[in-house]
This record gives sequence, structure tokens and C-alpha cells, in this order.
Amino acid sequence: MISNKLKIEIEKVKNSKFSQTDFKNLEFGATYSDHMLVVDYQNKQWTAPKIVPFQNLSMSPATSILHYGQSIFEGMKAYRGEKNDILIFRPEAHSKRMNASAKRLCMPEIPEEIFLEGLVELLKLDQQWIPSLEGCSLYIRPMMYASDEFIGVRPSNSYKFIIFTSPVSGYYKGTVKVKVETEFVRAAEGGIGFAKSGGNYAASLYPAKLAAEKGYQQLLWTDSNEHKYFEESGTMNVMFQINDTIITPPLSSSILAGITRDSILTLAKDMGIKVEERRVSIDEVITAHQNGTLKDAFGTGTAATITHIAAIHYNGKDLELPDPAKRELSNKLNKGLIDIKHGHAEDKHKWVHRIKVG
Ligand code: COI
Repeated sequence: MISNKLKIEIEKVKNSKFSQTDFKNLEFGATYSDHMLVVDYQNKQWTAPKIVPFQNLSMSPATSILHYGQSIFEGMKAYRGEKNDILIFRPEAHSKRMNASAKRLCMPEIPEEIFLEGLVELLKLDQQWIPSLEGCSLYIRPMMYASDEFIGVRPSNSYKFIIFTSPVSGYYKGTVKVKVETEFVRAAEGGIGFAKSGGNYAASLYPAKLAAEKGYQQLLWTDSNEHKYFEESGTMNVMFQINDTIITPPLSSSILAGITRDSILTLAKDMGIKVEERRVSIDEVITAHQNGTLKDAFGTGTAATITHIAAIHYNGKDLELPDPAKRELSNKLNKGLIDIKHGHAEDKHKWVHRIKVG
């Protein structure tokens, strides 16, 4: 339940960018709504939240984040419901995950009321930015970074928490071809792989660039000890369907605890689809492909939603997967999730936070 107790100072934009925005041609992550929420952490406490026009940040070259990477973020989405209501998908879960990341990165946790009430106020103010076109949504990016001007290695004493939003269409346009990565490592057990922190993404860029040069849009990361078991795909968690069972690697300290991953597993159980959270090896997937029991492989993520994998590249070969239109289980799960997010189906797990605007 999101209350409405926080006092938030609001400075509105003088000139909105809304009328110059082409909502029919949204590129993921390239357009920002008019305002942002900003909250500073100083002297061991969070100061009063403010909503201000979306703007550049000014910082010293000695600012801690620029050197030691103490930064975390979230990615969530809001949709248009009937009567123009604003529907935010699983904001409490995102607030919890942000704080799990904060703890690991030695950053202060953000009180849930600041995160949730700040978000609601921001969305009410920028509600016209929530696209209503099919396949589009308002992507919400909460972030926090170390803001001390100091280049000694220690946790920063001050931090900035910001939420800004971006109207988006899909992250991937259609299916992806992925390459199994057996040389480089995204994250190891005991590291920060489970946290949504910039460093995990930085570590993925060079191997992903090498794969992109060969025509693969993403990697399938494998475990750091043996390069034998699948982990995740960097922008998404990964699921395989062998026969009629959906199998996904279990959460660990090196895998992001995806909220879409959790939603899909929960929905699958609701629908009576068999799911297994267990280690899944490269060999198992290759064998299933050879004997025709590998029916599907797909990624799950807030940005990626459900993205079908068209081919898995391993050891010089592409394992081709079935036509996405024929992947019955993942398509059924995708539709079920879309219906809940848009308020068209019963929300029995209370995932959607509805803001009535009418
Ligand atoms: C998300 O799915 O929200 C992410 O943060 C992944 C990123 C690739 C956009």
C-alpha cells in the first residue's frame, strides 16, 4: 500500500518537450519525460525529496562514483489502464531489490516511502508521457550514486537518488541470436552479479561487442568456475523449455533476481505449467536440441519483457530454435503477463499499483 504522507517540493518545467516527442517512433532509452525526482543523502540521513525539471548533473571530476563505481539502479515500467489510470508494475518489489543492491554496494538503503511516494508523485505530474500505443510503456529508471568529492577508496558519505522516466517501445525488435560465453565472466559467486550495479554491465560490454561482431545480439553467460552451467543473459534472465517443462537457473549471488523472471515463474505455476529452478548445463541444452525436446529458449526482463531466442551459438554451431509464433507456453505466459500489467486480467498477486487519475 503506497501512502501519501511525504511532502515533496515541485518545480515544474517552463517548456515541456512533450509536443516535440514522436511517440510513434520511440527508440528505447533515448527520450526522457519532463521531470525527475531528486533526493540527497547527507549527514547520515535522506533530505527532503524534490521534483525538478529533467536536467544535467553537475559534479567534480573527483566525485567518488566516477572512480570506484558505487552506483545502483532499477528498471521498472508503468502502463495506461482504462480511464487513463496509471498502472505501475511491482513497485514494491523494485524498491526491495534496489535496497538489496544498496546493501551489497555499501550504500544507504532508500526508505520505501521515499521510493514509492516519490515515484507516484513523479508519475502523476508526468502522466501524459505514459504511452498508450500497443507494445509501449513508460520505463522508470531509479538510480543512486556516490556523490562525495573524494578520491580515497572508502564508501561515500553522500549519495544522490534520482528517478527519471522514459517512454519506450520494445528493447529488442523481435528475436535475438545469442552466443554462449565460455571465456569471459560476467560475475562470480560472492561478487556483485545479483545487484543491479553499473559494474556488472560494464564487465559485459567487451565480450558482448565481440559477439555482436559475429552477429549475436546477446551472450548467454555461464558459471565462472566451470563454464558449464547457464547463468543469465545480461539484459535478461534466461529460461529453456525442454518437453513441457520450463527450466531456469536458480538465483545465486551471480545472477540478477529478475522481477519479470519471478512473475513468469509465478504465472507458470498458476497456469499449471511445470517449472524447475535448477542448474541447466550447456550439454543438457545441446542434447535436448539434438533429440528434439528443446522447444523454446527465451529471456525475461523489464526492458526485454519476453524475448524469444532464435538461435544459440556454441562451439562454432548455431542451434536453431522453433518459430516464435509456435512457442505455445512462452506466448501464453507473455499474454498472461501483459494482461495483468494493463489491468485486463485478475491481479491475484497484487502486482499492479493503480493510480486513479479520472
Ligand atoms: C531492465 O530490464 O530494466 C534493465 O535494467 C536492463 C537494461 C538492459 C535496460
